[in-house]
Amino acid sequence: MDYRFPLIEKLPPYVFAVINHLKMEARHRGEDIIDLGMGNPDLPTPDPIVDKLIEAARNPKNHRYSASRGIPNLRVEISRWYARRYNVEIDPETEAIATMGAKEGFSHLVMALVEPGDKVIVPDPSYPIHSFAATIASCELIKLPIIEGPEATMDALRRLDYSRLQQPKLLVLSFPHNPTTVCVEKEFFEEAVAIARERGYLIIHDLAYADLTFDGYQAPSILQVKGAKDVAVEMFSMSKSYSMAGWRMGFCVGNRQAVAALTRIKSYLDYGMFQPIQIAGIIALRDCDHVVPEIVEVYRKRRDMLIKGLKSAGWDVPSPKGTMFVWAKVPDQFAKLGSLEFAKLLIKNAGVAVSPGVGFGERGDGYVRFALVENEQRIAQAIRGIKMFLND
Ligand SMILES: Cc1ncc(COP(=O)(O)O)c(C=O)c1O
Repeated sequence: MDYRFPLIEKLPPYVFAVINHLKMEARHRGEDIIDLGMGNPDLPTPDPIVDKLIEAARNPKNHRYSASRGIPNLRVEISRWYARRYNVEIDPETEAIATMGAKEGFSHLVMALVEPGDKVIVPDPSYPIHSFAATIASCELIKLPIIEGPEATMDALRRLDYSRLQQPKLLVLSFPHNPTTVCVEKEFFEEAVAIARERGYLIIHDLAYADLTFDGYQAPSILQVKGAKDVAVEMFSMSKSYSMAGWRMGFCVGNRQAVAALTRIKSYLDYGMFQPIQIAGIIALRDCDHVVPEIVEVYRKRRDMLIKGLKSAGWDVPSPKGTMFVWAKVPDQFAKLGSLEFAKLLIKNAGVAVSPGVGFGERGDGYVRFALVENEQRIAQAIRGIKMFLND
């Protein structure tokens, strides 16, 4: 039998898989590859969170199916966290839902909100699931250029074709932005909310890098805009702020109808996160504010070291105000190659794995993304390799 699965055919193999494969091959040959490819946090989850997980896992009461939308105390803690950080009121009953990471929550939210053929505005380049969730749900993408920064992005949003034919259902935003590291101020969200209200679509804002900000910059929540809950929901991830990537924990807050839709679809799909994880998550949100700056400081030092090192290699790259990434234009002498071929050369000749920008969308070609997920000593080694390669 030769089966065909048209949906799967719409999902190309991850470009990143090519780089991963090359990295594994080189490692099998005994080469030491510094892996700055995937944004997989390397720092341990703070002790109080791990300790609570162990304690809760020993209680048999926590071994049963849990609540799909999150246990009540977790949702209460999420709403307290929003009040404390952003001065935003969230009703834990109707405006908050726990998810198995922002990625799961985001994809199922898109699936819950659209019908086949709906139009979804997504930045290009973007974190892959931001566009592929719409593709999986058989929607049409309207691509929003983002590389030139907030003003140009807002300009493009204003100037989209909003005729009845092109009427979008959703706008996906995410700042600080992966992979471009573009950051915005609250005014950007004020205007986005006003446009969404006028045009009648919903905004999903992914705030995965809420805390990974530097040099005094603070990332706003879209829900700080007055009336934003009428037109927007926000996703948050525990993966970066609390170094809990493997735990699969996040949440979604804001617009009641969207939260109810996600709650409904998830009630069909899952029985909730393992309850000890939810209980440990309460500890993270309630008691661990102090660990976040320590995690951020580690990323800041790595960022500074990489930017300085690249500069000394003759590769001038802007220093990001947010995220755990550095977004670098492919040096002029390699520009013709495109980002995938250049990334292959970096593995082969510098011993450094990065993500080719084209993996995030067409407009990402011409750039590569470094993830700050190796320690300073390894970053120093990466710089030595890059220097030798570029100045060979
Ligand atoms: C923008 C963005 N959203 C979400 C995620 C994943 O979050 P989670 O681990 O909570 O699923 C990432 C991870 O790289 C990301 O870059």
